[in-house]
Amino acid sequence: MTSAESDPSDSSPVATEKIVSLCARRGFIFPSSEIYGGINGFWDYGPLGVELKNNLKAAWWQRMVRERGDVEGIDSSIVAHPRTWEASGHVEHFSDPMVDCRACKKRFRADQLEGIEGCSSREGTSEHDFTEPVGFNLMLQTKIGASEESASVAYLRPETCQSIFTDFKRVREAARQKVPFGIAQIGKAFRNEITPRNFTFRSREFEQAEMEFFVHPSDRDRWFDIWREERMAFHREIGLQESQTRFREHAATELAHYAGRAVDVEFLFPFGWQEIEGIHDRGDWDLSRHSEFSGKDLSMTDEDGERYTPMVVETSMGVDRTALAILVAAYCEEVLEGGESRTVMRFAPKLAPVKVAVLPLSKKLKEPAHAIAKDLRRSFNCFYDDSGNIGRRYRRQDEIGTPFCVTYDFDSQEDGKVTVRDRDTMQQERIPIDGLARTLRERLEGEA
Ligand code: GAP
Repeated sequence: MTSAESDPSDSSPVATEKIVSLCARRGFIFPSSEIYGGINGFWDYGPLGVELKNNLKAAWWQRMVRERGDVEGIDSSIVAHPRTWEASGHVEHFSDPMVDCRACKKRFRADQLEGIEGCSSREGTSEHDFTEPVGFNLMLQTKIGASEESASVAYLRPETCQSIFTDFKRVREAARQKVPFGIAQIGKAFRNEITPRNFTFRSREFEQAEMEFFVHPSDRDRWFDIWREERMAFHREIGLQESQTRFREHAATELAHYAGRAVDVEFLFPFGWQEIEGIHDRGDWDLSRHSEFSGKDLSMTDEDGERYTPMVVETSMGVDRTALAILVAAYCEEVLEGGESRTVMRFAPKLAPVKVAVLPLSKKLKEPAHAIAKDLRRSFNCFYDDSGNIGRRYRRQDEIGTPFCVTYDFDSQEDGKVTVRDRDTMQQERIPIDGLARTLRERLEGEA
């Protein structure tokens, strides 16, 4: 296990470790640069992980952009003009309190000292010898320009939404939108977290799916409530149960100085209730500040001819945190009749990385089975496996959450049918090969 994975503050390390181990073993998620020992706070998604994450992002885009006439999508650059971050307040305020231990040289967040490991460098005590807390800016810096002397400092964006604000006027005019309307995007964000931890939960590079909804000031509370409900409905749709999710309203003392209201969607991880998404009333802070810093007027005129700056209701989902929640929610160990056990990932079918596996009963049936897989691949992510006994092959598919296994056997040549096995019920049914893709699609959509 690398340092990126271990976390002494986990309250149920066993459960987290099971997820971490399955993710590495089956190629969902593993440490970045693993052959060099990993790099703390950075993770790679393997063949199954990227499918899972892409399915999650596609579901979000479908719900938030495609199905709505009042939300437009964009894909902005990761590096923005440095003034962006002065206007947003990040240069001045985006910091966490940090302390260093003078003895062991380890660095901690001053507000998260509970449960940390003791100092290993002091004689007779495991207590750390902390410095005074100082503010540590979380933005990752880079330099732009060909020569060292003329290069200027720029930042890797710590949130994706700021370019939505700077692109507001262009997108509204190009898309001929009127307030109320929203702009959405999915993309990478970077934060130099002092203590990355809990697997991918707190990373230094992660993805956000954010939507900024611009409303008239008289309408901000109504839209806040609408988006709050919409977002929880989405989390249900992707398989997070009622008992595993809750809202947490921020107390006035927790709110950013510009925020009217903030509600977190929290998920019950093995390490406790934690935020996967924030729904924020950002007021007119962002557009007003960018107007001020850029000199470009971003205000509008309402029906009564009054000038106003639109207010913003934001929904900001962490893609990696939500993917981790999906993995935790799907994970299930079962003891079957006869005492055999299986690990099954009960993903909602539309999120499952592999939708169907084709398993010929014997290697002699390879050719017709390959032909079926080739046909199914035009519709789904389909896996082909002809090695090992059929029971073991089913278990391998259960462990990665494949909703259907299709078995081609010696009777298939005679009756033109295959056996379709359902991941959850494990029931098997003979189904005609002719029209198989259509039948499976109907079932996947029916269960979605
Ligand atoms: N634009 C608002 C914003 O960025 P935030 O609460 O700081 O708000 C939104 O972040 C979401 O981004 C969080 O709910 C979380 O899911 C995700 N996120 C934030 N920091 C993260 C980190 N270090 N690692 C993984 N996800 C993170």
